[in-house]
Amino acid sequence: MKTNSDYKGFIFDLDGVLVSTEHNHFLAWQKTANLLGIEFSEKENENLKGVSRVDSLKYILNLGNAILSDGEFNNLLDFKNESYLESIQHLTQQNCLKGVVETLTKAKVKGLKLAVGSSSKNAKRILKLIEIEDFFDTVVDGSMVEHLKPSPEVFLKAATNLGLSPSECLVFEDAASGIQAAKSGGFTAIGVGNENIKQLADKYYNDLTEFTF
Ligand code: BG6
Ligand code: MG
Repeated sequence: MKTNSDYKGFIFDLDGVLVSTEHNHFLAWQKTANLLGIEFSEKENENLKGVSRVDSLKYILNLGNAILSDGEFNNLLDFKNESYLESIQHLTQQNCLKGVVETLTKAKVKGLKLAVGSSSKNAKRILKLIEIEDFFDTVVDGSMVEHLKPSPEVFLKAATNLGLSPSECLVFEDAASGIQAAKSGGFTAIGVGNENIKQLADKYYNDLTEFTF
């Protein structure tokens, strides 16, 4: 059985693992759903963690049996993103989740390869805002792959960019779709900060301060 110190690379999901933006995504989706008269709860939002912007809107429309033209659909995607971006404009490194900066710093000192594998098309902008982009050897985001989580594509591309095989990498995730993506790609999946995924992950930590390597 491998230990945490046996891996050569770490691949991190962004939202909910490196930074606490999931509530901002939820509030922006709730505003969007309410525009259509659709109720949208935090419990429903659990199913959207890790899910792309387009698939998230499709999910919400389905909840309310709403049918939109392509134009209306795209306007709502823009509305959600603008409202999300407005709510995160003041993010700083203080918004990194517990243990993140310490884990990244230690991994760098140990010579590990580091990547971000995120469904978000805003990933690079957020990494810059929270001033941790320089830690990563590669960032693979939602604009760079054809299939998003639960497809393993984003993590497989990150591993390839690092020059590592899936078995040499740990993937850190807070979403069911992300754990599924990691496992179907042949990675060891570490669940962080979301008790709902405890049973799905290979290992689980409440936050990265508990993760030792
Ligand atoms: C994921 C989030 O990281 O990115 C989802 O967990 C979000 O909540 C998805 O919908 C897409 O993000 P964005 O920033 O491209 O709308
Ligand atoms: Mg996430």
